[in-house]
Amino acid sequence: MSPPTPPLARQLRDATRDAHRALDHHPALQCLLAPTLTREAYAASLLALYPAHATLENRVCQEIARLGLRLRVPRRLSHLTDDLGILGLTPEAPASETAHPPTSPATLAGELYVLEGSRLGGQMIADRLRRTLGPGVPHAFFSLAMAPEEWPRRLAELEALCPPGQSDAALAGAHEAFARFHHQLDTHFRA
Ligand code: HEM
Repeated sequence: MSPPTPPLARQLRDATRDAHRALDHHPALQCLLAPTLTREAYAASLLALYPAHATLENRVCQEIARLGLRLRVPRRLSHLTDDLGILGLTPEAPASETAHPPTSPATLAGELYVLEGSRLGGQMIADRLRRTLGPGVPHAFFSLAMAPEEWPRRLAELEALCPPGQSDAALAGAHEAFARFHHQLDTHFRA
């Protein structure tokens, strides 16, 4: 039986439900699930995802290092680069972020929730891609499977990162991470 959802995880899920819905309805991501998806539209989606994911992944990994935390986070950006390469495309490097104030562990918990949560829908997207574009379609980025015990373990880590009374900072971190991701897709998606 899986362990009960920790309180912070429940708060994060409730507080960001609308942000997730807005994101998974974004044209850059909706098209991935459409039976009419073409290889060109898939490539356009990956090109928009690159800066969005790069910004989030780089930021989280830099802050983990800066704070000296022993958290292991799988890097997926190289998979995205490889998928694009197979499609004959080179991603645009993300604009270097304007300096952001150092993140607190609680804020980082919210950002890490968004980064790792974004893996949860990946398998479903990968299955859909194989059906619409065929088994040869490159989809390593979406295929990094999450073992069943991995998500509950991650949620427990988030809880441990967030000291009592600082859940507002974690919620703000998650909201900002979703908002930045959405903004990047708006900026870079060319249908
Ligand atoms: C078409 C695109 C997407 C689809 C279809 C999708 C689908 C899903 C699904 C099915 C789950 C729930 C998995 C489960 O409960 O076992 C989930 C969870 C989640 N997704 Fe997405 N997702 C998409 C895009 C994203 C993106 C781009 C992000 C963030 C950048 C994201 C962040 C999250 C988070 C944080 C959760 C955890 C929610 C929770 O606390 O239970 N998703 N997604």
